Amino acid sequence: MYYHKIDHPKNFRVAALQQSEFNTSVDTFDTDTFRITVRNPRWSENFSDMLGIVQATPIETVCSYELRFEDRSMKIRNTENKSTVLKGHEDLLFGVCKEKWLFCFELQDGDRFYGMGEKNIGFEKHAVRTKFWNTDVWADFAWSDIDHGSTDPMYASFPVLLLKRNDIWIGFMIPTSSVVFMDTGARQMIEGAKQATESVPFFYLGAQSGSPDMIISVASTAKDIVSRFTKLLGLPPVPPLWALGHHQSRWGYATVADAAEIDKRLLAHGIPCDAIWFDIDYLQEYRIFTRSETPSMPQSSRQRKLVAILDPGIKADGYPIDKELLENNLACLNSEHLPYIGFVWPGASHFPDFYKPEATKWWKEKTAELAKTGFDAFWVDMNDPSTGSMELDEMCFDDGKIKHHDLHNWYALGMAKATWDGLKQAYPDKRPFLLSRSGMLGSHRYGALWTGDSISNYHHLAKNIEMILSMSLSTMAFVGSDIGGFGSDCSDELIVDWYRACLMVPLMRNHSADGTRRQEPWAFSTPVMNSIKQVIRMRYALLPYLYSLFHNLSTTGEPIWRPMIYESNDPVFEHETGQFFIGDALLQIVKLKSGETKRELVLPEGLFLSLTDGTQIRSRTTIDFSKTPIPLFVREGSFIPIALVEDRLIATTADIDLSKPIMLYYPGSAKHAAYTYWYDDKDGYEKERSINIVADQKDNDLHIKVSTPCTLAIAGKIDGNIMINNKEVQAVKKRLPLEGTHLSVRWVCL
Ligand code: NOJ
Repeated sequence: MYYHKIDHPKNFRVAALQQSEFNTSVDTFDTDTFRITVRNPRWSENFSDMLGIVQATPIETVCSYELRFEDRSMKIRNTENKSTVLKGHEDLLFGVCKEKWLFCFELQDGDRFYGMGEKNIGFEKHAVRTKFWNTDVWADFAWSDIDHGSTDPMYASFPVLLLKRNDIWIGFMIPTSSVVFMDTGARQMIEGAKQATESVPFFYLGAQSGSPDMIISVASTAKDIVSRFTKLLGLPPVPPLWALGHHQSRWGYATVADAAEIDKRLLAHGIPCDAIWFDIDYLQEYRIFTRSETPSMPQSSRQRKLVAILDPGIKADGYPIDKELLENNLACLNSEHLPYIGFVWPGASHFPDFYKPEATKWWKEKTAELAKTGFDAFWVDMNDPSTGSMELDEMCFDDGKIKHHDLHNWYALGMAKATWDGLKQAYPDKRPFLLSRSGMLGSHRYGALWTGDSISNYHHLAKNIEMILSMSLSTMAFVGSDIGGFGSDCSDELIVDWYRACLMVPLMRNHSADGTRRQEPWAFSTPVMNSIKQVIRMRYALLPYLYSLFHNLSTTGEPIWRPMIYESNDPVFEHETGQFFIGDALLQIVKLKSGETKRELVLPEGLFLSLTDGTQIRSRTTIDFSKTPIPLFVREGSFIPIALVEDRLIATTADIDLSKPIMLYYPGSAKHAAYTYWYDDKDGYEKERSINIVADQKDNDLHIKVSTPCTLAIAGKIDGNIMINNKEVQAVKKRLPLEGTHLSVRWVCL
């Protein structure tokens, strides 16, 4: 597999989709969302149908755009003003080459591209060429590329492409497990003769196998496209609240005694933490489904959750699990029908064939049994799948009938689903939580993904932010990076900056490699530890807001982290990743370079309130990171539910009261604002609850209607009276009890 080469469109035979040879259908799925599928005997499978990638069914709906095939090309045009927003390449809209296929479209000046999931190739992606093939980055690339964060492809494949054409957004999604390629007008050249380059006036995308299947959606915002695509693939469940807490991990934690020691240190330093993670050292000689110790912490006496790693590679030495795998014919076979051998931590390893229902059931049961020995959740790793120095081609599926390439990108999802089902079996009353390194479209239905083995340097911090923002645009919203970086030694400056940047990251986990400088907060100097602790405590205070965003994600598909272009089409934001929105109410600007002291914050329309000192700003302002270490801003007309954390010892999310938030309201110049705060019992399947709140500015008075009594903290200037549920109330002036902020508010307890 060449990672950086893709086929030239001229290697494809031009095929007219209207010809009967190609049985083409166009279905409508959501407003202005079209799915083109092509059937022809050259393709035996549609991978989306085979794996259930697209979960929605077509609907009849009124659209503002129409998709029309014309001669050999295709157009999408506005039904009212007849303007064309997307035009297929005149001579080659659709091409085939054996099992490969592609679609080719005209490029326009100023086109900007986004999405593509976990990619290291920049946030805005015009003029790039890339493949979607899950890799084990450290095993498959040179160290210089790894260190600089320039490896492509990475661990997970999300073939979602968002085109911004002035004020129009056009989304493309290829729902397949096969290898996808995309070219957004990259130069075609030969290394060493860089002057001999050709730019092409078109962009193209396609796949190496499986029947052609592409979804195209048109909207005026990125928001609409992302929501539609996420809904098409199935909305994600809400994770248990503890999964959104701070987590401590390290390659090296192995025993209950290790966890007890971490627990003790966390308590001693007053650092909130919801979970401690075990890496491969808890296993007996890296044998999956074994433990190097039998006793586990009794459920009742532990405050924090324990999460354990699982790899798919099963030591091929005939130990009881390996024996069961082979005797029951549950392993991936090669084309000679021998169990495929790859190389993972235990050495030569066999791999469960997650495509076989019997293997999935077996894995689920083993996982459930292991969970019951004292683990609350699992972390599935090396599922790219990583086979060390061994070729992958011979790892076939379904008794050798399905070739590896077709399901390669799906393998991790198969493993995640089987593990997820194991957790549900072990704890039927709890909502599962699972973290996976690798994944593809649909992985968002089974927990979180992290960005893999980063390095403790500023390239990686910046790249990780870009990747998280890009994944958020590509249907995978529950994401995080190893805070502090995984490989190499983390500096004092970097650990603080990484934590600060990840204040509201969907998954907040500190993880590092064996042999590197210890990276727990107390491994640094006391001032550094205190800065980290402040970030973590601030996150716990903001958890009601974050948790409610996850509830919103589960019904609308709207991500948690949102790049500026998600909230505004202003070209000024087209390349911006150093500041971003968390939900639509909070905006954060982050320090991404060593020694950076100041940066200009550029705001979209409206007033914003600094949570640090209460100043109200509009448009451009220079942020001084020494005076404002965690620059967070509230958009006018927004509510932020906050938990009372200040002056309290918070060990875990069990200490947070979700039902009685402090509802911070910043009216700014907004005349009307409405918000629904969603929460529940933190875990389990009880019905979710909500607090609905509406604010209206009438003359000078502020009228608020709230469905459930709660504490209101109103920031900014109010000239008249405050009326709550039609009654005038007296507010007291006080400081908002939120760590790291000095914000004066009008405080009303209902
Ligand atoms: C690779 C993972 O990416 C890393 O997080 C983990 O610590 C090691 N495998 C060891 O299990």
